[in-house]
Amino acid sequence: MTAVHVENVTKVFNQGRSDEVTALSDVDLSIGQGEFVSLIGPSGCGKSTLLRLIADLIPPTTGTVTVAGKPAAAARKEQAYGIAFQQAGLFEWRTVRRNVELPLELRGVGRAERRAKAEEMLELVGLADFAAHYPGQLSGGMQQRVAIARALAVQPPLLLMDEPFGALDEMTRERLQSELLAICATTGTSTVFVTHSISEAVFLSDRVVVMSARPGRITAAIDVKLPSRDEAGRQAPAYFEKITEVRKALRS
Ligand SMILES: Nc1ncnc2c1ncn2[C@@H]1O[C@H](COP(=O)(O)OP(=O)(O)O)[C@@H](O)[C@H]1O
Ligand SMILES: [Mg+2]
Repeated sequence: MTAVHVENVTKVFNQGRSDEVTALSDVDLSIGQGEFVSLIGPSGCGKSTLLRLIADLIPPTTGTVTVAGKPAAAARKEQAYGIAFQQAGLFEWRTVRRNVELPLELRGVGRAERRAKAEEMLELVGLADFAAHYPGQLSGGMQQRVAIARALAVQPPLLLMDEPFGALDEMTRERLQSELLAICATTGTSTVFVTHSISEAVFLSDRVVVMSARPGRITAAIDVKLPSRDEAGRQAPAYFEKITEVRKALRS
């Protein structure tokens, strides 16, 4: 089954007004179960818009979006995906642990199980010692890691991530990249990952989808088959070849 199917989608904001913007034009995209797909393209090309359409946070102007074979709205009601945006979006009055517990609470998971899961996720992102802190007491990068832990807490079949590592230092970023891959591999999660970084897209993805400037269109889809996604993978010739290929696709 396809995890995400976007067919013939156009998105026009403020239609019929003087500030009308065509953010996406004729977008078709199919993402397989367990596939990791990155979206890359110049600022303003509609990457976030495409992610928000898949999440059913906004409706398409024309075309259809299905998630796991269902209309995006139905998938949203069933909480078929976890989501992590560039802005952490944490609740300031909840502790770190209770922020991570929130999606589990919404699903009616019992207290003890919730707590155990939240602690496991915080361990994973290296924040076990900060469970009782409030978001305002953490750095931006730490807040972002909490948001990632929250997105992963329900082990959703689909993860939607909008530049989630953008605010992190390089070391943390590489560690979380590896952890994300490990999680996706063990849970079979499908991922749509928006990034500005060509090397990050190549390292993480099965496929890198390249978009053009406004109106956003998909101009290339590059299959990446790295021999391994570890330290050696970051030094493999195939890695650098794919980076060059994506860079060329972005330029043309
Ligand atoms: N809610 C909105 N109302 C009006 N225009 C919007 C809205 N959201 C995005 N846009 C416009 O749509 C285009 C694509 O935006 P966005 O998807 O955020 O790009 P990206 O994430 O690739 O940087 C931009 O021109 C942006 O100004
Ligand atoms: Mg964006």
